Amino acid sequence: MSKTINIGIAGLGTVGCGVISNLSRNKENLKEKYDLEYNILGVSASNKTKKRSVSIEGFSWYDNPLDLAKNKDIDLIIELIGGEKGIAFDLAIETIKNKKGFITANKALISTNGKILSEISSKNNVFFGYEAAVAGGIPIIKTLKSGLFLDKINDIFGILNGTSNFILSRMNSANKNFDEALIEAQELGYAEANPSFDINGMDAAHKLSIISALSFGEFPSLENTNVTGIEKIQTIDHKYAKELGYKIKLVGKSSLINGKISKEISPMLVDEDSSLGTVEGVSNVVCINTDYNGTLILEGEGAGEGPTSASVLSDIIDFSQGTKSHLFGKSFDDLTNSVNNIEISNRCYYLRTFLVDQKGSMAKFTSILEKNGISIDQVIQRGDVHLKDEKNSTPVIMLTHPVDTDSINSAFLELINTDLISLNPIFLPVLKDN
Ligand SMILES: NC(=O)c1ccc[n+]([C@@H]2O[C@H](COP(=O)([O-])OP(=O)(O)OC[C@H]3O[C@@H](n4cnc5c(N)ncnc54)[C@H](OP(=O)(O)O)[C@@H]3O)[C@@H](O)[C@H]2O)c1
Repeated sequence: MSKTINIGIAGLGTVGCGVISNLSRNKENLKEKYDLEYNILGVSASNKTKKRSVSIEGFSWYDNPLDLAKNKDIDLIIELIGGEKGIAFDLAIETIKNKKGFITANKALISTNGKILSEISSKNNVFFGYEAAVAGGIPIIKTLKSGLFLDKINDIFGILNGTSNFILSRMNSANKNFDEALIEAQELGYAEANPSFDINGMDAAHKLSIISALSFGEFPSLENTNVTGIEKIQTIDHKYAKELGYKIKLVGKSSLINGKISKEISPMLVDEDSSLGTVEGVSNVVCINTDYNGTLILEGEGAGEGPTSASVLSDIIDFSQGTKSHLFGKSFDDLTNSVNNIEISNRCYYLRTFLVDQKGSMAKFTSILEKNGISIDQVIQRGDVHLKDEKNSTPVIMLTHPVDTDSINSAFLELINTDLISLNPIFLPVLKDN
């Protein structure tokens, strides 16, 4: 016998309209494959008269999304508004209190309020799905909640933000500068009008905190997470990284080291032929390194209407089948507060600086590195490019031998206080085994 679920949708933007259109496209499929029928009993957004990519004429309009959660006939609320607090949070709480199912694509909401949401959803024993919140159409949440829990995860890492990956890919392949690549991303609808969270690493940090929680049994947390964005990367960095056999990617990595969790978002150099190096454009990839199952790699479209709405639909199917699981894989009482460890093992770094074009400057520069315990593996120095500033500086690129982060930080501070360089140098970690 088929099951009919009554749905309320809050938020009718890219994802909200995508869900309505994907549901309609799959109406017959859902019935045939899952015995599932649905009614959309209400929708809500900011502006009732706004032109949308789907018709909402047949649906009841709610000015206030919270009234959707109060409607006794609605079984499931789908929140596609966004934002870590405000209406998205209030709607989650109101829905759970009314013992309805809740689905969201909102990583900021889950990352920021994971503890309280885990507590009240388990207390009220309701369905809470958020597959669409991380890595678009890649089923990473279900994968981490599945039997993988029986294995020990050592680290989880990947490319978690499609917009920044698109920008870095275009800088590399089309020789665009950062601003040009960002404008292209905006024109193609890949970046928000305000893309700061994509560029400064915060969006990826929210997602990393969620998959880290699922991997290591903690509440999501951004505390003590090193977050560096892609703003300082220049086109020449891609050129020199390529010469050295690497690509530059914004990588999120969470590792379990001696019982503590180390989380980091940073542009890193990855081998150009590796699982991360070959992921271009808006795609995402997540690698899960386990004790017995080896390394699992999941790759796919990281954002956009199609993949994101597909993940929402997969949560709707789970809801209709009565599949319930703890929000972060373990019961509320078994989750721990994040015990972060920002200590990072020694590793190699890519260093790019613009060195003043003067006799002896290279010797002074390398002696600062040496004094700080940094030894150099490879150097590229070309006199053919000059910064158009009063110092007439030329780029110097180095690959270091493995070194600790304290040495890198102290060398950085010393270098920016000399007159040897133009612009602050950048140090990018080199990711091994990717
Ligand atoms: N876009 C993606 O590719 C993608 C991928 C994964 C996850 N997500 C997540 O999915 C969520 C939605 O993203 P989106 O790209 O679809 O955003 P969007 O296009 O900006 O749509 C947001 C929707 O929320 C509505 N809204 C704003 N404030 C509201 C309020 N107070 N009450 C009711 N409705 C309100 C807006 O109404 P109006 O339309 O009337 O202005 C709009 O329909 C976010 O959490 C985002 O992080 C997005």
